[in-house]
Amino acid sequence: MNATHLTIRPITEKDVPAWGRMRSTLWPDCPAEENAEEARKYFRGGDLKLVFVALIGGDYVGFAEISERSIVDGCDDGPAAYLEGWFVEQQFREQGIGTALVNAATGWAAGQRYTWMGSDAELTNPDSIAAHSALGFEETGRIVTFRRRVGP
Ligand SMILES: CC(C)(COP(=O)(O)OP(=O)(O)OC[C@H]1O[C@@H](n2cnc3c(N)ncnc32)[C@H](O)[C@@H]1OP(=O)(O)O)[C@@H](O)C(=O)NCCC(=O)NCCS
Repeated sequence: MNATHLTIRPITEKDVPAWGRMRSTLWPDCPAEENAEEARKYFRGGDLKLVFVALIGGDYVGFAEISERSIVDGCDDGPAAYLEGWFVEQQFREQGIGTALVNAATGWAAGQRYTWMGSDAELTNPDSIAAHSALGFEETGRIVTFRRRVGP
């Protein structure tokens, strides 16, 4: 990758189809309609505060989604910015694009006066855990989630 060709910028409405395609790769269980709804909500001012896309030339190669969460483990100074989604296309990984996306996200969060940016990774995703650690995210805990049916 020639880093001079990498662009990281906030998403615009024309990027929505590519964002949806990348979301479907990151979250294969997320139906296309949910991606479309997320996009509609985003441009109306939904839960996501900002989405960055990464492009090389005209090709979309990644994205980062940032929200605000009122409670984040280990982030005790009020609401924290939160990295909800972070994705780089497989063939472009380990070339610094994930770093550029996180730098854009943390730069925006610092400008918004957040003290912390939280994030999470599946226990089964050691690559994501390693990438978070490499970029200065400190591990604050590991959890197992449960559910129990209480209705029909
Ligand atoms: C996580 C992800 C976004 C990182 O993107 P990337 O473009 O590969 O990241 P970078 O090349 O900027 O690497 C960032 C750092 O993480 C390290 N890293 C990246 N992938 C790694 C891996 N598989 N194993 C170990 N370290 C890794 C890099 O060495 C680099 O560290 P350095 O700064 O010390 O050199 C990308 O691997 C990805 O899309 N994974 C699948 C989706 C995912 O799991 N997203 C996160 C949860 S939503």
